[in-house]
Amino acid sequence: MRFNGKTVLVTGGNSGIGFAAAKRFIAEGARVAITGRDKAKLDQAVAELGENALGIQADLDDPVAIDSMIKQIQESFGSLNVVFANAGISGPTPLGNTTAAAFEAILRTNLTAVFLTVQAALPLMSEGASVVLNGSVMRELGSPGSAAYSATKAGVTGMAKVFASELVQRGIRVNTVIPGGTRTPIWTRGAREGATIDGTEGALASRIPMARFALAEEVAAAAVFLASDDASGITAAEIVVDGGSIGAPWGAPIFRAA
Ligand SMILES: NC(=O)c1ccc[n+]([C@@H]2O[C@H](COP(=O)([O-])OP(=O)(O)OC[C@H]3O[C@@H](n4cnc5c(N)ncnc54)[C@H](OP(=O)(O)O)[C@@H]3O)[C@@H](O)[C@H]2O)c1
Repeated sequence: MRFNGKTVLVTGGNSGIGFAAAKRFIAEGARVAITGRDKAKLDQAVAELGENALGIQADLDDPVAIDSMIKQIQESFGSLNVVFANAGISGPTPLGNTTAAAFEAILRTNLTAVFLTVQAALPLMSEGASVVLNGSVMRELGSPGSAAYSATKAGVTGMAKVFASELVQRGIRVNTVIPGGTRTPIWTRGAREGATIDGTEGALASRIPMARFALAEEVAAAAVFLASDDASGITAAEIVVDGGSIGAPWGAPIFRAA
């Protein structure tokens, strides 16, 4: 039980990778605050996670909501051992057909809100605490139509290293989990509404050496490891959970000799 008596914040904990991480933290002894915008999904997640989960509805695009989220955590938990800044959105921003508002909406959630969440949580964190950010292989894949999303995830990687250098003197570690395609609702939301996860995975699998998406639980396991004392010597590092996509792309089925 690596998290006995510990307290954790998972932003975006009502869905996908965040929910899987919250489940794992609780299974290992933690009390976990999860956040999301969608109240119904939040209530359902808390019901599933049980009495060690605290649901906080918060739109992290609003800095006031971030401060209020941290205030609620302070009142309920007193302090925080772990922050998993996981909440994020994707969306198309192709050159030639993207408004400033659409571009900046992705920056606000995936970058500004991550910065403000970590900043707001810091007063509750002390020596031995740990921050994990959620990046993406999209930071380096040059995938058409993904300028804003890819820029935010490259930004997350850069920001994590800056955080690590600023916080090392306080004994707080900062690391990043870098998922590749992962089976979560992000693939069927917004502009992708109507798509199915099986259909999307099927269309992309031949470009992934393992020929499949990751499970949310596989990404969560890496994030929980980075947050744990098992990673006590690790800061400013990252774990890539992508079935080999960026490390061994030519092992993908699409490149294998027929
Ligand atoms: N799935 C993948 O293939 C993949 C690959 C690489 C990286 N990632 C990253 O993994 C992270 C988690 O995504 P996921 O795949 O688990 O997708 P998901 O199931 O769609 O979860 C996204 C979470 O973020 C929350 N969220 C989004 N905008 C928010 C806002 N403004 N304020 C508060 N919460 C907000 C959502 O809550 P509500 O719905 O309640 O707003 C939800 O809990 C993201 O940062 C994503 O970029 C995912």
